[in-house]
Amino acid sequence: MKNLITLLLVFSCSTVFAIPFEGQKIVVAGPSPFSAEITTDVYKKGGNVVDAAVAVALALSVTAPYYASLGGGGFALVKMGDAVEALDFREVAPKAATANLFKDKPDTASVTGGLSVAVPGIPAGLKALHAKYGKMPWQALFAYAEKYANVGFRVSGEWSRLTTAEWERLNTTAKRTFSQGQRAEKALMPGDWLQQPELTNTILRLRDYGTDGFYKGPVARAIVDTVKANGGIIELEDLANYKVRWLKPAETTYQGYKIYMMPLPSSAGVLMTTALKIAEKVKLENMPPLSSLEYHTWGEILKFSFRQRGELGDPDFAKNIPQLDFAKLAEEFNKKFKGDRVMVLPPPGSNIDVEDSDTTHFSIMDAEGHSVAMTITLNGNHGSGLMTNKFGIMLNDEMDDFNTQPGSPNMFGLLQGPANNVEPGKRPLSSMSPTLVEKDGKIVLSLGSPGGPRIISSVLQVLHHVLASHFDIDQAIQAPRVHHQYEPNKLFVDKTFSPDVIDSLRRKEHRIEIVNNVAKVYGVRLRSDKILEGAFDSRGEGGAGGL
Ligand code: DON
Repeated sequence: MKNLITLLLVFSCSTVFAIPFEGQKIVVAGPSPFSAEITTDVYKKGGNVVDAAVAVALALSVTAPYYASLGGGGFALVKMGDAVEALDFREVAPKAATANLFKDKPDTASVTGGLSVAVPGIPAGLKALHAKYGKMPWQALFAYAEKYANVGFRVSGEWSRLTTAEWERLNTTAKRTFSQGQRAEKALMPGDWLQQPELTNTILRLRDYGTDGFYKGPVARAIVDTVKANGGIIELEDLANYKVRWLKPAETTYQGYKIYMMPLPSSAGVLMTTALKIAEKVKLENMPPLSSLEYHTWGEILKFSFRQRGELGDPDFAKNIPQLDFAKLAEEFNKKFKGDRVMVLPPPGSNIDVEDSDTTHFSIMDAEGHSVAMTITLNGNHGSGLMTNKFGIMLNDEMDDFNTQPGSPNMFGLLQGPANNVEPGKRPLSSMSPTLVEKDGKIVLSLGSPGGPRIISSVLQVLHHVLASHFDIDQAIQAPRVHHQYEPNKLFVDKTFSPDVIDSLRRKEHRIEIVNNVAKVYGVRLRSDKILEGAFDSRGEGGAGGL
């Protein structure tokens, strides 16, 4: 009976929240209205931001398997005690992986099928986060995911579009699940009802047996069988050995705020620090917000900062990662920078090959500044295209984030270097950028986004517009953005730019490519009047809400 009441509660709250949502106790901004309902319910039951984050991530693994399946990985920045901590639950390369794993294989091998799958980290990440800071019982956080999997939910427009887009790449088990046997040849349409009984069994095993319910026993066996039947190399031992890492975040300052960023194996810490130091040096805060001069400068800052990415990799493996002098880099930029024309930047000189590729983010914050900023991914939309033969788990294609084919760009067109070669047990270099901002010892802003390398550019521009241009969080998130990643030498611009700004950027010799969206940012801010403000990007689906 109690379950039925909870169920009715969950399914009757299909409120569309205002943008931005304002609250006083706890606020979430994430990719689905479900996240707001779950966060509110967890808080009312006595849970904290970590409990809410775990419950939201579990529910997303059911309602948005294309980027949040338990078969993926991610990062979180967490502020619960005195210090901000970084949790790395990124996927790792299997034990049998070698630097030449993808040599002589088609380019698609690192994107679709068994070889593209790295050992998943999300279940271990959620368990580690809860074990350290959760207040509610682990089992209680599964109620929402279990209902969405077992009873079902109405699929959204985004669900239908993203699943249709990848249909040809999905294996038969995924196709059968995502068509519900009604039209086995095509994905459900928006508003259709989806039930996932196989995935319900996974959710219940993780609930009842903890990580052993996923990394050992029948679920682990189904992952290994599916990967191997599709040409992959993951063994039971790889799953049993998966470990999360608690890391010290990367830190810098900007406009009098302390910025906490994800350290390696995310490139975010290094690239964002470079960019923010340059932004201060060239006094970006004095340039008119949203002007072509501001966007020109962003393009140049991003081009300059991304140039270093090819030298980065998992620090537990790559030993020659340069220690960068950020002040010197800012000085070098300042000498070369011209307000009316792009600068020509030769490659940084070392052995950089070319690198590039679905993800989501949510931020949850309470009135005391306790925060979880979590970015999770399968890499490409629906990852490897493989759903496990039993247990309904979509598996990632995170191996493509390694330097799989030296000299060829990855799915995001990025330059990769030897520091990011495949090695057993290693994490691939990432661009995911959960970010927390502190003022006077209290977290006041939490941001993140999907979008591969565009994440870094987007989080930076939103940070700047909130901290330096004093936009409210919603204005900052909706404002047009640019992205540059050095290679290819192009300025990617949102389609919402006015033709005038685009013309002006062209006159400064930018090679412009207009794109549907430069990432999708989600953020929560604690204002000085103690109101929490949460907003999601109108470039995609989302929800902001709380209490
Ligand atoms: O870790 C990374 O950088 C990528 N695997 C993230 C992929 C991504 O954001 C795709 N989103 N649209």
